[in-house]
Amino acid sequence: MSSKQKFILSRFTPYMGKKKVLMPLALFLSGISAALNILPYVFVWIIIRQILGSAGSLTLADIRVYAWGAFAAAFGGVLFYFCALMSSHLAAFRVEVGLQKAGMEKIRSMPLGYFDNQASGKIRKIINDGAGTTHSFLAHQMPDIAGSIVSPLILLFLTFFVDWRMGIASLIPIVIGFSTMGFMMNEQGMNFQKKYLNSMEEMSSESVEYIRGIPVVKTFGQTVYSFTRFHDSILRYKEMVLAYTLLWRKPMSFYTVVMESAAFFLTPLAVLMIGRSGGAAAILADFIFYLLIAPIFAQVLMRSMYFRQNSMIASQALDRIESLTDYPRMKYSDIPADNPADSLEFKDVRFSYDGANKAAADGVSFRVNEGETVALVGASGGGKTTLARLAARFWDTDEGEVLIGGINVKEIPKDELMDRISFVFQSTKLFKGTLRENILFGKEGVTPEEIERALVLSRSKEIIDGLKDGLDTVIGSRGTYLSGGEQQRIALARALVKDAPVILLDEATAFADPENEHLIQEALRELSRGKTTLMIAHRLTTVQNADRILVVNNGKIAESGTHDALLAQRGLYSGMWDEYQKSIAWKVAARETVTLGE
Ligand SMILES: Nc1ncnc2c1ncn2[C@@H]1O[C@H](COP(=O)(O)OP(=O)(O)O)[C@@H](O)[C@H]1O
Ligand SMILES: [Mg+2]
Repeated sequence: MSSKQKFILSRFTPYMGKKKVLMPLALFLSGISAALNILPYVFVWIIIRQILGSAGSLTLADIRVYAWGAFAAAFGGVLFYFCALMSSHLAAFRVEVGLQKAGMEKIRSMPLGYFDNQASGKIRKIINDGAGTTHSFLAHQMPDIAGSIVSPLILLFLTFFVDWRMGIASLIPIVIGFSTMGFMMNEQGMNFQKKYLNSMEEMSSESVEYIRGIPVVKTFGQTVYSFTRFHDSILRYKEMVLAYTLLWRKPMSFYTVVMESAAFFLTPLAVLMIGRSGGAAAILADFIFYLLIAPIFAQVLMRSMYFRQNSMIASQALDRIESLTDYPRMKYSDIPADNPADSLEFKDVRFSYDGANKAAADGVSFRVNEGETVALVGASGGGKTTLARLAARFWDTDEGEVLIGGINVKEIPKDELMDRISFVFQSTKLFKGTLRENILFGKEGVTPEEIERALVLSRSKEIIDGLKDGLDTVIGSRGTYLSGGEQQRIALARALVKDAPVILLDEATAFADPENEHLIQEALRELSRGKTTLMIAHRLTTVQNADRILVVNNGKIAESGTHDALLAQRGLYSGMWDEYQKSIAWKVAARETVTLGE
């Protein structure tokens, strides 16, 4: 809390590098600019007074001087503001770079799991958005803070200096307007705002979940059930916005009208004053002056209000970036483990994601003997992917242990662990580089024949042959993008080349097109031949031949056994199997219908 209450500028200063003077300079220049911007109104007021003849005689030459003065002040105002923006932009760029550097540094010591698809996108978004938000705040809004302090002070002074009675009259609407605002910002209003922001956040996170689920929904023909939570959150949001808008409708309309109503208060007063004491010319001049200046006053105060809001947004962006530091670092052992064996074992493993209210792994124990294939099946969200990730130590378990060759993965040095494991995950991403680099992944001494074999087995050869530069094609440059299925096949080639003893497969065939599917499965079989394999698959035909099948449900192993044993059990698995058979029958029927129709 205390850091939030610090003056916003001082929070950004550490990221500014050496030239910390830029921002104060910007504030100073913008303050001068604000003062200069008001000066023309004073000159115009003087000229009007003279023309109306209330202040002695005035030659045309005098008027010209004032007119030029007004012009010079206005021009100076623009010039100073320009310089202020220049230095604030320079400062903002430095902060942006500083923040990105700081963010990257923090990321380096995070657990691998932090970089799974969703989270790494989120981190990138936090850092990029945060840097962007703070940039626009520092570059554009920060210099205005000087103006929003200087301008009201000068205006307040002028308001009472020129004619205090009219000054008060011109202030009435502003006071009423801001009281309305203040009244609406009471506890109820703030609560409303909080609820509104919450429902917006909920909707956006539901939408992420929804989009994350689309491939699964599409590929495996799940029902619209998965869509109802997103739908509900949209409805809730709609209701909130409606209620919010209705609550604010009247006060906001009132506020807008009042803020523009200086004339309404000034006119009767001016008429009254002329009636009382005469001197119509002077009063008229002052009247015009206030008509000019009142809306500016309101505008300036409004801007100060927005400044508060914007500084809150910028400071929250900074909070989010700085909170990345709070993430516990992962400790890696550097004593070689030299596992003699390659079994994979989970012992009463418990694990929850940060902020989740239920465990993703809730007391899971199982063992994959060396050379065995164990399959994980079960409904989406059950915890299969989490288990595969825990095996590769993407995260550390909360309780229990994950052992490879009888040694806790925490005790195995990072490089050794990575050498031991190959994974092909549903969301494998290629990095920017050539296809060859992507496939070799730093592995040395691979013969061209071995590469060729991996390419053929993984059906990547067709992809490579279609590219002008073949294996030397740089991915992600000049339009060479691969589809999800193609990336999957390259990842498979990588795993085949790597030839690690422990294989983790998470829905590795999810993106395969129907004609490639059984070929990919063949490649997977080749990959896992004689290896310790943990495989996750939606297509139950894929897992039929596994040594053991584990049904994962709600973070627990619900059933375990061979395909035949599980079918005989008539439990979850046999239910899934029936569903699966039906869906295949349906697909075949659909295909036949299409063929007949042609
Ligand atoms: N990176 C993550 N952060 C937070 N929660 C997650 C993350 N990944 C998965 N979960 C949650 O953990 C649970 C298990 O998910 P997951 O292991 O992906 O299941 P499955 O692979 O069986 O579909 C789900 O409730 C899911 O929403
Ligand atoms: Mg999964």
